[in-house]
Amino acid sequence: MQILILCLSIILTAAQGVHQNTTFVFNHFNTTTTIKYVAAASIQSNAIRLTNHSERVIGRAYLDKAIPMKRNGSVISFSTSFIFAIVRHARSGWADGLCFVMTPTTALDGAFATQYLGLLNISSDGKDYNHLFAVEFDTSQSIGVDNKDGNHVGIDLNGVKSLLAEPAGYWEGNSLTPINLKSGHNIRAWIDYDGASKQLDISLAAIGEAKPQKALVSKKDLDLDGIIEEYMYVGFSASTGSSPLVEDHYILAWSFTTGSDKAPDLDILNLPSFYVKIPKFHNSNPPEQCICHSVLPQGFRDDNLLGYGGFGQVYRGTLPSGEEIAVKCITKDLAEGMEEFMAEISSLGRLQHQNLVPLGGWCRKNERIFIIYDYMSNGSLQRNLYSPELNLTWRHRHKILTDVASGLLYLHEQWDKKVVHRDIKPSNILLDYDLNGRVGDFGLARLYDHSQRPQTTHVVGTLGYIAPELIHSGKASPSTDVFSFGALMLEVACGRKPVDPEGVILVEWVWDLYANERLLDAIDQRLGKNYDKGEAEIVLVVGLICSNPDPQKRLGMRKVLQILCGEAALPMGLHVPSAF
Ligand SMILES: *[C@@H]1O[C@H](CO)[C@@H](O)[C@H](O)[C@H]1NC(C)=O
Ligand SMILES: *[C@@H]1O[C@H](CO)[C@@H](O)[C@H](O)[C@H]1NC(C)=O
Ligand SMILES: *[C@@H]1O[C@H](CO)[C@@H](O)[C@H](O)[C@H]1NC(C)=O
Ligand SMILES: *[C@@H]1O[C@H](CO)[C@@H](O)[C@H](O)[C@H]1NC(C)=O
Ligand SMILES: *[C@@H]1O[C@H](CO)[C@@H](O)[C@H](O)[C@H]1NC(C)=O
Ligand SMILES: *[C@@H]1O[C@H](CO)[C@@H](O)[C@H](O)[C@H]1NC(C)=O
Ligand SMILES: *[C@@H]1O[C@H](CO)[C@@H](O)[C@H](O)[C@H]1NC(C)=O
Repeated sequence: MQILILCLSIILTAAQGVHQNTTFVFNHFNTTTTIKYVAAASIQSNAIRLTNHSERVIGRAYLDKAIPMKRNGSVISFSTSFIFAIVRHARSGWADGLCFVMTPTTALDGAFATQYLGLLNISSDGKDYNHLFAVEFDTSQSIGVDNKDGNHVGIDLNGVKSLLAEPAGYWEGNSLTPINLKSGHNIRAWIDYDGASKQLDISLAAIGEAKPQKALVSKKDLDLDGIIEEYMYVGFSASTGSSPLVEDHYILAWSFTTGSDKAPDLDILNLPSFYVKIPKFHNSNPPEQCICHSVLPQGFRDDNLLGYGGFGQVYRGTLPSGEEIAVKCITKDLAEGMEEFMAEISSLGRLQHQNLVPLGGWCRKNERIFIIYDYMSNGSLQRNLYSPELNLTWRHRHKILTDVASGLLYLHEQWDKKVVHRDIKPSNILLDYDLNGRVGDFGLARLYDHSQRPQTTHVVGTLGYIAPELIHSGKASPSTDVFSFGALMLEVACGRKPVDPEGVILVEWVWDLYANERLLDAIDQRLGKNYDKGEAEIVLVVGLICSNPDPQKRLGMRKVLQILCGEAALPMGLHVPSAF
């Protein structure tokens, strides 16, 4: 095997204020490389792994010495090139990206993960004292951070709200070819700053492609003198989001120079690859048909009946491999007029997320439709919440709500098409072996859309969880799911149905307690004092906001998830809605 060449030449002059240029090249990284690893960053396969794909991980890696960045008080020219890879895993989403950074210290100083990219926190974000210069390669569409989409490159000065950002890609003549930052493939980046003209240029390209003639992000008159200090640490920072919005971040090679020259070239021939092929669900390929044929002869006996989900009975079964499954049998009458639905269900199978019940396959036999799911060994949230012998702790309840929020966010925003669930309620939330909450029955409400039967023109949903505008217009939207989730949050925290047998409306009761400053009296008595007061207040208040009859006043699922995870503050100025 060819020996990797590391050429490292750092010219550091001890005397301060003298003309000093810094130049280095790392064509790979190992334990002897002069890199300082901060927080979770480490070496893996001759690359820097800034973060793994656990949730809310921060990692930074810097050249181990601060370098002079000014001459006569002005920021000098610098140029850097590096190769990175952002790798996701099956059943996870993406978040949050990595940055090239210059910071005055290598200390974390209370930095947060997620959209703060391991650099800042909610109070330091945007403050002049940060002296932070960053170029972000952002893989997540951050709320309140005003970025375009989950695949962009931006210039960040002292804060994570980009001064300028562009969707990732590269120019060839007049055409911009998009680059998927989170493809898992190695990607090369160039950042050049000209101290004299104060122009910053950022470019991207696939490995093997030349540096584009025209930069992707280009900013003229960018005066960095107030941002960059005399001596700065240069390196990278990355962070992951809340599970499952996580990814691995790698830096495979890096060169840098100050002075007016361009960063030394990199050896691209000996790079590792972290690319992982994510298995896709395919419509009617042989394995799924096999699953069906091996499942159907088992018959559906009553002692295998798991329950009556929406649209049909659910039975427990076992594959020849021993794997346990749940099979939903869509009843014959509903199965009429469903050609379109058949096409759609195969696309539903491509929805893969750790907070959705995995859909393993489907088939059609004698005008019935069978949908095969992974078996969820801890049953439904409904059962766990109300059965006297089960006792869901606050920790479990909070985790399950966060899980459901994350699954819903995926349905609403993170897949190619917007999917509205339409029937969020405790019996449609399932708990796997580890008590992770998983959303079940997603997308099936569309059955009604494709059915010709007159009785199905009624609104899909369950009383107490249906948004008022859905009852009036019949039009489901992400916001009507948010309403249902609001009802679910209140229900899980209080251990009470949205409408109890005596006709008490849960949301009105909680508003009353809120108005009387006795909000926590709403918490399920069965928890006694064993719950986190701060979290309980957040769940109840967010539950109230999401249950607002006015869809404009509700939050989006991304914001809900961020608040539940403590990454965003509760909105201020809550008012009791005038009409329910
Ligand atoms: C680290 O890389 C350098 C430069 O390629 C090489 O000389 C050295 O043997 C490597 N060390 C280890 C422990 O692999
Ligand atoms: C990921 O890194 C964090 C921080 O170093 C660590 O606590 C966690 O165990 C790691 N997770 C995995 C799956 O390696
Ligand atoms: C820096 O400042 C000194 C004194 O003000 C001046 O003599 C020198 O020419 C300046 N150097 C540059 C590169 O501008
Ligand atoms: C936020 O960052 C600032 C500045 O780095 C730090 O002083 C402060 O303690 C951090 N806040 C939290 C809540 O960690
Ligand atoms: C630093 O680089 C600049 C531009 O290439 C050059 O003019 C200057 O002589 C260099 N200084 C040193 C100390 O090498
Ligand atoms: C979840 O289900 C598993 C398997 O049935 C069981 O061993 C475990 O005790 C259950 N966990 C809880 C908290 O009920
Ligand atoms: C439920 O668990 C809590 C601890 O989280 C305990 O205090 C309470 O007594 C339990 N209730 C029942 C009915 O088992």
